[in-house]
Amino acid sequence: MVNIKNISDDFPILAQKINGHRFVYLDSAATSMRPNFVLDRIDAFYKSSAANPHRGVYALAERATAAYEGARAAVARFVGADTDEIVFTRNASESLNIVMYCHAQYALKPGDSVVIPISEHHSNLVPWQIAAAKTGAELRYLYTDAETGLIPDSEIERKIDKTTKIVAFAHVSNVLGLRFPAEKLVARARCVGAVTVLDAAQSVPHFPVDFHGLDVDFAAFSAHKMYGPMGIGVLYGRRELLEKMPPFLFGGDMIEYVREQDTDFAAPPHRFEAGTQNAGGAVGLAAAVEYIGAIGWANIESREAALMRRLTAGLAEQKRVSVIGDADPGARRYGVVSFNIEDVHSHDAATILDSFGIAIRAGAHCAHPLLDYLGVKASCRASLGVYSTEQDIDRLLECIPQVRRKLGYGD
Ligand SMILES: Cc1ncc(COP(=O)(O)O)c(C=O)c1O
Repeated sequence: MVNIKNISDDFPILAQKINGHRFVYLDSAATSMRPNFVLDRIDAFYKSSAANPHRGVYALAERATAAYEGARAAVARFVGADTDEIVFTRNASESLNIVMYCHAQYALKPGDSVVIPISEHHSNLVPWQIAAAKTGAELRYLYTDAETGLIPDSEIERKIDKTTKIVAFAHVSNVLGLRFPAEKLVARARCVGAVTVLDAAQSVPHFPVDFHGLDVDFAAFSAHKMYGPMGIGVLYGRRELLEKMPPFLFGGDMIEYVREQDTDFAAPPHRFEAGTQNAGGAVGLAAAVEYIGAIGWANIESREAALMRRLTAGLAEQKRVSVIGDADPGARRYGVVSFNIEDVHSHDAATILDSFGIAIRAGAHCAHPLLDYLGVKASCRASLGVYSTEQDIDRLLECIPQVRRKLGYGD
């Protein structure tokens, strides 16, 4: 199931040539690739079991229901949650929007505050702007330290106060690759009675995450960033909170009973899953969980840490390259590093690197407020997956100097 020596061999998409070169995929933070193990499980589901879950009583429908609910149980174990606290959504963005529509807009009032780090992805930022606009609450930012890229304790103590009703934050920043102190933020939020929302989109692919252990109230992530398919994500909600929340979408199997003029809604998680669900996606996500388990966290963490050290040390040695976030090349980054090449727009850099078969991300990475705060217009971003290799890193480092040369600079 896993080719531990050459994990990249498990990923058929990586075997192709791009622009005549070996394909070097360094954009896993945008979406990770899928191994044969996951693709085969999805294929097998559609070939053998794909009736509509929770609808029929015949054998195939029972099999589809078992596959869908089995996937929920596997995901719950993966993130340290109870099975009925796991809601399947389309992606992390939808999960965060459900928290806004079904919890925040009822919980907030004028005089309250929502606190988030300035580094948030738009998916964990715009919903809070909308919540603030709808309710008259204040949206307040925690600013990162210019040297370390992290949030100073004093910022946490000062900004999260008795007016704070929601503290929402990414576990790992999709621009800086730095890990935020979830335990500290949750402890401070608890102190003032605020609800916590963890955006785990960039942490679940890189290290074990335990939602009960962290004591967060809500959490969100997407399958497609952790070797699963696109179109399925997860909302975790503490049971007592999910039970109090009204549904977001209506219809299909999210009901208990419908009368002519009113409806009793199903209990969570089904209350939040209107209409036919992405059962093939859920099966693919469960397969991705199994695949990660087969490689093992110790293996994943040590491989990725070594590759990231190689990458950040290599970037630090490059002339005219500056890394964003923590200036210390030894800082621990989780799968992501952003950088700029002097005088070069990141889109030009990414286009030139693509001509060498290297895929990196360029632009603002859905984090305009962070880039504005840092005074950076855009950046290049390289990000790793379990299939990334030393050769991938070395190829990127070898091609970066070519970028300025191609644009006519001397060095
Ligand atoms: C930190 C973070 N949160 C949320 C998202 C949104 O994920 P999705 O596009 O799958 O909804 C992303 C995607 O890049 C992300 O990096």
